[in-house]
Amino acid sequence: MSKEHREDIEISSDEKKIQLMYIDNIKKINKKYFEQTGKEKTYMTVTYGCQMNAHDSEKIDGMLIEMGYKKVLTESEADVLVYNTCCVRENAENKIFGNLGYLKKLKEKNKNLKIVLCGCMMQQEAIIDKIKQSYNHVDIIFGTYNLYKFPQLLFTSFETNEMIIDIWKKAQEIIEDLPSQRMYKFKASVNIMFGCNNFCTYCIVPYVRGRERSREVEDIIKEIEYLVEDGVKEITLLGQNVNSYGKNLKEPVTFAELLEKVSKVEGLERIRFMTSHPKDLSEDLIKVIKENDNICKHIHLPVQSGSNKLLKKMNRVYTREDYLKLVEKIKNEIPDISLTTDIIVGFPTETDEDNDETIDLVKEVKYSSAFTFIYSVRSGTPAANMDGQVEEADAKRRFNKLLEVLNPIVLEINKKQIGTKQRILVENISKNDETLVTGRSDNNSLVHFKGDKSLIGTFVDVKITDCKTFYLIGEQI
Ligand code: SAH
Ligand code: SF4
Ligand code: F3S
Repeated sequence: MSKEHREDIEISSDEKKIQLMYIDNIKKINKKYFEQTGKEKTYMTVTYGCQMNAHDSEKIDGMLIEMGYKKVLTESEADVLVYNTCCVRENAENKIFGNLGYLKKLKEKNKNLKIVLCGCMMQQEAIIDKIKQSYNHVDIIFGTYNLYKFPQLLFTSFETNEMIIDIWKKAQEIIEDLPSQRMYKFKASVNIMFGCNNFCTYCIVPYVRGRERSREVEDIIKEIEYLVEDGVKEITLLGQNVNSYGKNLKEPVTFAELLEKVSKVEGLERIRFMTSHPKDLSEDLIKVIKENDNICKHIHLPVQSGSNKLLKKMNRVYTREDYLKLVEKIKNEIPDISLTTDIIVGFPTETDEDNDETIDLVKEVKYSSAFTFIYSVRSGTPAANMDGQVEEADAKRRFNKLLEVLNPIVLEINKKQIGTKQRILVENISKNDETLVTGRSDNNSLVHFKGDKSLIGTFVDVKITDCKTFYLIGEQI
């Protein structure tokens, strides 16, 4: 029995109770298994895509831990293996299909393995059809709107042993307070809104994450207060376009108002947010960032392109001049602000001149870092059908030209920090050198310095002594 595309379902407010019951049922089964074998059931979650997905994975982990599963770090050791997928660019999807081939072998070795696919990629019918046809070793598939139903789907899979597909076409109510397992004890993400209404013409996100829905202020503040009580020092507020937060609430609230309220939460040391769409970043917001010490002086402000022709075709709703004016306003008000961005190269009809305009803009703004992407055709989006698709070789050439300008600018901005004192929230031991720890400064720079694991989760004052393009080097003061 496979269930598909249920869009009219009514979620009762008892839905959370139902899921907690399934969690409890599976917990009992796992407990019995432990009593009989002395072994714990295990899980692993593999996450692709953005912070939104990473945060969803924390919810999936939270549910699995509640069900009595123990986390493992290799796929071959897992009894439940969850792939939380992304489809923002084609290579993200290719990776998943590549891995599914490998998982077939794992499943042959361990017949009891449950393979679970969820996330954005699963919201596309063509993908589901392909999985049904060619990857019948997958056990459970759900989408972005019904993640909270995972316990029930897992339980049903144990009962029936058949492929279960449960994808909804649109969102229902927001289910609050499900279990969640934070990746870090000392920092956490909090969704303030879901979905996106912007329909940038290249982007698949509005199709797989649905229309914009904001959470109530009280629910957000309650969650943050709980997190702070539980040891969290840094919160990142998440939304595809945080600047349009609250517009669809019964009593509308602006993002600036929300941010101000969050900044007043007792004991919260640092607040970040992403992503800011340039079209509706308000003066009030700039003021709130400026006036509150615990709001990080960093704005991720994706520009996508420096060419008005392309910005129009992308449906970004601002011009190059609007963007530059906004940047100037922000820099005037908050001189030590750090700005980062996203850029797409190779959008349909792009010429070398368009790319040069992007390069000029990069020179003018002086970003402290930028994510650069080669345009990837996403079927179902307007840009996929536009005339003038760019040859791969042209896109790559322009991409390299952009990086040749961008990287020295990033280095130059980093160099300006040499000699300054930065307050670092230490996150990890460095991957390449275990005598070093790494963390982030207020303005979001990655900083390495000598230290040990006792520093993880604490704030340390560091003097910046050197830098590379992608990180700073410092010493504890
Ligand atoms: N909501 C955020 C971005 C979400 S996707 C915003 O609007 O800023 C993250 C980034 O992926 C985008 O900013 C864009 O630069 C890139 N991206 C999205 N769709 C893409 C596509 N089809 N090809 C290449 N890059 C894409
Ligand atoms: Fe995609 Fe644009 Fe929405 Fe960002 S704002 S998620 S780029 S449609
Ligand atoms: Fe994020 Fe990828 Fe979905 S970027 S919203 S996980 S398509």
